[in-house]
Amino acid sequence: MVDRICGLWTIDRFFSGFKMKIITSPVVAQRYFVKLKKCGKTIGFVPTMGALHEGHLSLIKRARKENALVVVSIFINPAQFGKNEDFEKYPRTFRQDKKICRQTGVDIIFYPSTNDIYKQEHLTFVEVKNLSDILCGKFRPGHFRGVTTVVLKLFNIIQPTRAYFGTKDFQQLKIIEKMVDDLNIPVKIISCPTIREKFGLAFSSRNKYLSTGQKLDSALIYKAISDAKVKISEGYLKDIVSVKKYITKAVSKISGINLEYVEIVDPKTLTNIEGRISLKNNLRILIAAKVGRTRLIDNV
Ligand code: PAJ
Repeated sequence: MVDRICGLWTIDRFFSGFKMKIITSPVVAQRYFVKLKKCGKTIGFVPTMGALHEGHLSLIKRARKENALVVVSIFINPAQFGKNEDFEKYPRTFRQDKKICRQTGVDIIFYPSTNDIYKQEHLTFVEVKNLSDILCGKFRPGHFRGVTTVVLKLFNIIQPTRAYFGTKDFQQLKIIEKMVDDLNIPVKIISCPTIREKFGLAFSSRNKYLSTGQKLDSALIYKAISDAKVKISEGYLKDIVSVKKYITKAVSKISGINLEYVEIVDPKTLTNIEGRISLKNNLRILIAAKVGRTRLIDNV
């Protein structure tokens, strides 16, 4: 059976062009990946919620370079959405996503339903304490618990060699790195840079909610934090209070903006840095804001 799977995979990939496989059942997927791993294939895994864009593509392309097999999961995870959040209206574009995956050389899409992932009697959740309650966690209680739970489930089903995450969701990345370390999960987490539109706005599936005007305005969020970074490096902004003031003032020009937070943190522990700073400090500036009803996050 093992040989048959390895053989079929080789035929698909090298003789019939890209015969991308779509698997919906976790049980079937887990069986399949166990067998592929036994054949010695490295598996690069890109977890997503679909509505694929350039940011996702950069992760897929990197996974394609570094692994024998590339698996993309598309699952809009209800456990990471709050009651009044956008779960219902989150963009669902599977046909288009499938096309993009095929064109980018994805071998397998894992596309389970909500019932496949969360059976009615689902009682187990994973939580990375402290890191999950701060920054975005303060504004989205339970969000990261939902993320870590689904990511661990996906890791258990797919058993990837490497998993690819964007620095755009910096707190998510750090929480997943911590979970992997704390729980001895045998996967290597690869962090990938943020991909942006020409005018600076970070690609996000939620950008679909923005009008063209709002998109251009939202680019000021990135401009504000990257200008602050330059001003820190030039020694014009010397302490946390003045950095926060500078950014808050710059983004207040965006019409309909509601700034949730701007924080300057230690990138390892995500704890706030206080007092005087310089570029010698290892810093990360994180920001979250709503433009109209659309929540955007960014960091430098
Ligand atoms: P989603 O928002 O679809 O993002 C999937 C991956 O793409 C994440 O690792 C995210 O950081 C990365 N990404 C998003 N925009 C990016 C950009 N502009 N540049 C580079 N990478 C970018 O994040 C999630 O889904 C979910 O929380 C998930 C991890 C799938 C768990 O449900």
